[in-house]
Amino acid sequence: MSKSINRREFLKRGSALLAAGSLPLSLVEVAFGQNSPENFTFAYVSDSHITHVKGKDFVRNWDRGLIHAIAETNLLDPRPDFVFYGGDIAQLGKREEIDHGLEILSGLRGDVHYVMGEHDYYLDLGDYWRKQLGPDHYSFDNKGVHFVVLNSVLTYDDWVNRWGGPMERMLQMARLDNPQGSPFMVGEAQREWLRKDLDKVDKKTPVVVLSHSPLQKIYKCWNFWTDDAEQVQALLKPFDKVSVLYGHVHQIQYNQIGNISFNSAMATAWPWPYPSSYKQAASYLPKLTVEMNRADPFFERDATGWQFINVHTGNVDAHYLLPDNQNRVVAYDRKAGHPVDTKFQPAENRIPPQTHY
Ligand SMILES: [Fe+2]
Ligand SMILES: [Fe+2]
Repeated sequence: MSKSINRREFLKRGSALLAAGSLPLSLVEVAFGQNSPENFTFAYVSDSHITHVKGKDFVRNWDRGLIHAIAETNLLDPRPDFVFYGGDIAQLGKREEIDHGLEILSGLRGDVHYVMGEHDYYLDLGDYWRKQLGPDHYSFDNKGVHFVVLNSVLTYDDWVNRWGGPMERMLQMARLDNPQGSPFMVGEAQREWLRKDLDKVDKKTPVVVLSHSPLQKIYKCWNFWTDDAEQVQALLKPFDKVSVLYGHVHQIQYNQIGNISFNSAMATAWPWPYPSSYKQAASYLPKLTVEMNRADPFFERDATGWQFINVHTGNVDAHYLLPDNQNRVVAYDRKAGHPVDTKFQPAENRIPPQTHY
């Protein structure tokens, strides 16, 4: 963030921009204290699910979500330092879908850093994506913050090799509620890479980790889950300030585990509803310490918005702006010791998920 624009003005500008058009993206602010020249922002766009129909035809609604996000990102003032794309460019990992998605994304001004999604991966195990975009895990530094990107959508070899062919495997992994599915993981090799990467980083340096699946265990039935989440969290534990940002879930989620704040990005394609209860499944683990809510599960553009995150304090303070719906603020509550949804968190304001249709 530039020195001349404070946070309040920035939010006001965001609101003005929202009035001009909806904002299907996330904008993340990394702040090191007021008036610091090191403050900066980055945008975060995710889950476009570009879907090939035949020939040159693609599902237009998903194209439009991404096109809209890019148009709004290019209008941001102040300019974000870079953009993260959070994964699931494609619906079924087809070259046509990745090519078409990247053609649309080429309209973005500035650098884009990409995260691998399972819809990009399971047709050819990420070959074409990596050919176009480079390694699927990497790190870099920006103005005093260490950024790490992981491919968190790997799974067990026996599952990968079980299917009749690449498309069958892709279709199996593309299902939300597939009892034949397999949990995601970062995997041993990448965890070792991460350990070595973090070895070089001062423990006081804020660390921001980008993954596609949540690096926490939320709901196994829908693969809102990373099987080796605890091992990854253990590698992040020595750091003062850690934030994990993820896509995949197509809904607002937030959590706090120890020193790690978790925030999801919304999709440009569609929202997933919340499961009727995160607690009903045997696989539920009480890691998700905070009851959550969403505004309108049946309004497709409800899954789009933007957010701020302040890494300076080590706590997440996210402002989600929802087109044609009430904005949301998920802010860290020091007293409670975890993020709270400032509108919906109090029990009396809470709408039980999926009971109002
Ligand atoms: Fe997705
Ligand atoms: Fe995904």
